[in-house]
Amino acid sequence: MALSSNPLNATILSSLFLKVPIFAYIIGFFQDFVFSILKTGPIPRHVAFVMDGNRTYAKNHRLPLKEGHFAGANSLVKILEICYKSGISQVTIYAFSLENFNRSKDEVDILFGLLRDKLKLLAENEDSYTRFNKIRIKIIGNKSFIPPDILKDLEHVEQITQDKASKKTLNVCFPYTARDEITYAIKSIAEKRINGEILKRDDINLKTIENNFYFGDDVPPLDILVRTSGHTRLSDFLLWQCNTNCTIEFPDTLWPEFGFISMVSILFKWSYYTTLRIEEEIMDGKNLEAAQQTQSPVLLRDLPQPPPATSVSKKK
Ligand code: IPE
Ligand code: MG
Repeated sequence: MALSSNPLNATILSSLFLKVPIFAYIIGFFQDFVFSILKTGPIPRHVAFVMDGNRTYAKNHRLPLKEGHFAGANSLVKILEICYKSGISQVTIYAFSLENFNRSKDEVDILFGLLRDKLKLLAENEDSYTRFNKIRIKIIGNKSFIPPDILKDLEHVEQITQDKASKKTLNVCFPYTARDEITYAIKSIAEKRINGEILKRDDINLKTIENNFYFGDDVPPLDILVRTSGHTRLSDFLLWQCNTNCTIEFPDTLWPEFGFISMVSILFKWSYYTTLRIEEEIMDGKNLEAAQQTQSPVLLRDLPQPPPATSVSKKK
């Protein structure tokens, strides 16, 4: 059929379909149901994304490059919502790598402007998504590379989302590379050693290095790193943080097409293997802490009441 042979038409059709209130309601209801099931198992505390494949998406759909990045920014908002609704407390995104400065000036300007506009939209008013949901936005990276006007806006976003009651965080790595972050930490530690804040060489350990990262000291260990578009490389992202228990996923889907099903399957898979790992560790009497560190599952009695239509009990 002519319509379904064109992927763009299919996308337009499905987004129109989602705008019809009854379908939007049914899909929302189904998604909430999936989140409740997910919450009966362990939930990752920290998930990171390399949002790759925007230009390929634009090329596949014969769109201007800019549209690929727009579609990527929209996908980000959807994925953030899925993550926070699932109970993940920290999400980290690779918004711009220092390597991306090798792209054309036009593309760099598009990426910078787009990030600023999206973050402003997410945080501008009291009822904007991040402020309404008490999500703190943190810019992680080498700020000396950000043009002053953009930096001013980003720092404003950081400041207005800095609510003490926020339990959720969005870490925006911009512009960032892991090796730059490690270099920054080493420089800071050397300075502290020279000015006497660190007294002995032996006081420097893994924790000291982590505490001196751009991330700071209030970030949980990374549980899952997702890189979309099928490329199996880390591209200098969170090299230190991808250690012992971090699961790395390389789905083939392009970032603008990465949606609910793709994300939720990764979370179910992680939950399943984490449950097995924790059970094994507990049985071996090895790691009782692991069980305590993982977010405790929601008990059946804590789940929301089912809608009356599904109740089989008789009214008294
Ligand atoms: C990622 O997509 C966009 C950024 C966050 C910089 P790309 O622009 O790398 O798109 P592909 O990988 O070339 O398709
Ligand atoms: Mg790429």
